[in-house]
Amino acid sequence: MIFSVKEGSLIPRFGAARRDGSLAVLEGFHALKHALRFDATVLEVVTEDAAALARLAQALAPDVADRMLAMAREIDREVFRALAPLAPSTGVMALAERRVIDPAAVLGDQRPSPVVLLEDPRDLGNMGACVRVADAASVAGVLSTGGHDPWHPDALRGAAGLHYALPVCRLEGHEALESLDRPLIAVDPEGEPLEPAAIAPRAVLAFGTERYGLSGELTARADARVSIPMRPGVSSLNLATSVAAVLFAWRLAARPVAPLA
Ligand SMILES: C[S@@+](CC[C@H](N)C(=O)[O-])C[C@H]1O[C@@H](n2cnc3c(N)ncnc32)[C@H](O)[C@@H]1O
Repeated sequence: MIFSVKEGSLIPRFGAARRDGSLAVLEGFHALKHALRFDATVLEVVTEDAAALARLAQALAPDVADRMLAMAREIDREVFRALAPLAPSTGVMALAERRVIDPAAVLGDQRPSPVVLLEDPRDLGNMGACVRVADAASVAGVLSTGGHDPWHPDALRGAAGLHYALPVCRLEGHEALESLDRPLIAVDPEGEPLEPAAIAPRAVLAFGTERYGLSGELTARADARVSIPMRPGVSSLNLATSVAAVLFAWRLAARPVAPLA
């Protein structure tokens, strides 16, 4: 395959961006749409079909269509497909600067909105789905522990780029939780049945890892341990599903306190 030098250089550029903690690789139309809508600094937009992208943008995101199309550069289809392990069917990818987030500022946010804490989540698509529903519920932020990068391209894809709509970052260990001025609630299938109206507006809602649940350390620190009631025989909900259930139970119980921004 022969590419122009300029197009061929996109392959190492996108490859390097995947390993660069200051950059975000946005795979697909919805990730790019939300990045633009929430004022990300977008550096590069490439598409395998400019006419198809224009139709999609006018139909699904007229508010950002002009900006998207002004930046979009049509490139060879083979180059486009080499920019990601699984090129998005919407035919567009982009590079953007990541948001720099201070976890202490997220936890110190005085608005009456919870923070979601994901303890060592393993599935990047699940992490993204958590960010997406957390933003829909208008929480103060999503923090995660463990080795996985919440800004990984797969997590961004799962979140449809909503990392730009609320603070999302990784916590190094549990130190930031030591001087919390928020109640810490462990969300755990073994907890007391959830009473949505009792969730403090500034709670940290902690969810455990997919296979093993919350660690003993985090559970021991918690001020309360709550469960989402399930019918007998079901062991647990999927992580993102449980985040959705708790956040929307809280939202629906506390609607007058925390209007959607
Ligand atoms: C797939 S579950 C983990 C299952 C794990 N075997 C356990 O017992 O916790 C991932 C996380 O989702 C949340 N979760 C899932 N189902 C839940 C339920 N019914 N009640 C409360 N939390 C739940 C918890 O935070 C849990 O750590």
